[in-house]
Amino acid sequence: MAGRAGKASSEDDYEIVEPRASSMLEALRAVGYSVQTALADLIDNSITAGARNVWLTFHWNGADSYITLRDDGRGMSEAELADAMRPGNRSPLDEREPNDLGRFGLGLKTASFSQARRLTVASIKAGHERTVRRWDLDYVGRTGQWRLLKAEARSSASRISALGDQTHGTLVLWEQMDRIVGKAHKDDVQAQNRFLALARSVGRHLGMVFHRYLEAEDGKSPLRIYLNGTKTDSLVHPWDPFCSTHVATDSFPEDVLELQGNRVLVTGYVLPHKDRMKEDEHEAAGGPGGWNAQQGFYVYRERRLLVAGGWLNLGYANEEHYKLARLRVDIPNSTDADWDIDVKKSRARPPAVLEERLRELADTVRKRAREVFVHRGARGHSPGTVAIEDAWYSVTTRGRLGYRIRRDHPLVKFVMDRQGADSKPLNALLRLLEETVPVQRIWLDAAEKPEAHAAAFESDPPAKVVEVLEELFKALRAAGETADSARQRILTMSPFDQYTKFVNALGTRRH
Ligand SMILES: Nc1ncnc2c1ncn2[C@@H]1O[C@H](COP(=O)(O)OP(=O)(O)OP(=O)(O)O)[C@@H](O)[C@H]1O
Ligand SMILES: [Mg+2]
Repeated sequence: MAGRAGKASSEDDYEIVEPRASSMLEALRAVGYSVQTALADLIDNSITAGARNVWLTFHWNGADSYITLRDDGRGMSEAELADAMRPGNRSPLDEREPNDLGRFGLGLKTASFSQARRLTVASIKAGHERTVRRWDLDYVGRTGQWRLLKAEARSSASRISALGDQTHGTLVLWEQMDRIVGKAHKDDVQAQNRFLALARSVGRHLGMVFHRYLEAEDGKSPLRIYLNGTKTDSLVHPWDPFCSTHVATDSFPEDVLELQGNRVLVTGYVLPHKDRMKEDEHEAAGGPGGWNAQQGFYVYRERRLLVAGGWLNLGYANEEHYKLARLRVDIPNSTDADWDIDVKKSRARPPAVLEERLRELADTVRKRAREVFVHRGARGHSPGTVAIEDAWYSVTTRGRLGYRIRRDHPLVKFVMDRQGADSKPLNALLRLLEETVPVQRIWLDAAEKPEAHAAAFESDPPAKVVEVLEELFKALRAAGETADSARQRILTMSPFDQYTKFVNALGTRRH
């Protein structure tokens, strides 16, 4: 008996339990990709294969619609392609070359199955014949075996022919896309429009995820992704979350964090206030998810975006007044396990050892972002520049917040002084206004319609602004300032710092 007990615990006593082909492939469909993240996963492979061009096409034909993704990367030999089609062809534990965007040996399969019941891949490697492999979920279902087909379906031949002119490259074909087009009839115009809208949304997503590849970097020619065309007007445009070339963007110095001998680079950005951007610029800078959702951290793995905004579970919520804060985090592919990267490449969680420093950096950037947001784009109080004088300030009395009008604001002071001995009624009026600031109302309006509030004098014609400016100018002159110093002083007051032209004209006209 003892012998048998020994045998039962021995590693020689086993049975092989293979996954059931059909159930396994069907289950892999549920990894949770969207069309956007699935196509991004395929482009990861193209980039890893050294592609300079990627052509993505959405073909509408009702239930028989299909999507192709072709690249001019190095391609695969027959044996390589057969291996590439194997779910789990590489271990996630393998070390990867720098610049390899893969990790799990799954992406090609899981991304494709998530959207399509039939996956055909054609590939050409320099000096080799074109080779084809196909997974067909219905065929695997019928046979119950892991049968990888060695040719395209007869009806698919023309759909993969675009690869024909290339000496190297790969084409991925998705057909039977039950989750994208279902059983739609090809004359169903609404369904067709949805399909085309999806293509555009995919384009925006790819423009974001691969923006650093699409921008020319280090003099290398950028990656080009063509969407439904081969001319420059079908190119996917990069979307830079940091508006890094905008003059009014603030950036912080790069911070280098150490993680087990690897470097994690963090750069904070505060985007320009809306008043400092053109309307279409501001709209575009919001990004695919809109301003509020796109604040926070942007995590890049080998320059490929994994996480687009949000605060990495560091304990912050997305809030309106922090929406100008965005931080770029660069991680190498050697720290994937520490960051808990998922198969879809759309999640990364910071390792506990980095949390504190990331929070410190986030705090600094958020603080500055809030200032820019509140001051409507006025310049900050950096050393050497004169502080902007506001007409309002906030006070905390017994833990409660209130708002006060500055009695030392030049215009207020001027008017008060003119009242002479009888300044009581004016003082009473100011107090009344201060005590009845409709805080709740403003707060609700701002929360419901973030962009609804007008900037100072935004809806007034210039003449009205000049009227106020002139009174202010008079006030300062009356207080003994020279014309020059009065103008300088006005330029330090919000919002008149935005009206340089009018301010400089003050006192120069004869009345
Ligand atoms: N467009 C392509 N060009 C050349 N080789 C490719 C292409 N697509 C896939 N391959 C090969 O197929 C393999 C399997 O790809 P797959 O996406 O399934 O896994 P991976 O990229 O290694 O890891 P991950 O699951 O993280 O994406 C790749 O490692 C690569 O060798
Ligand atoms: Mg991959």
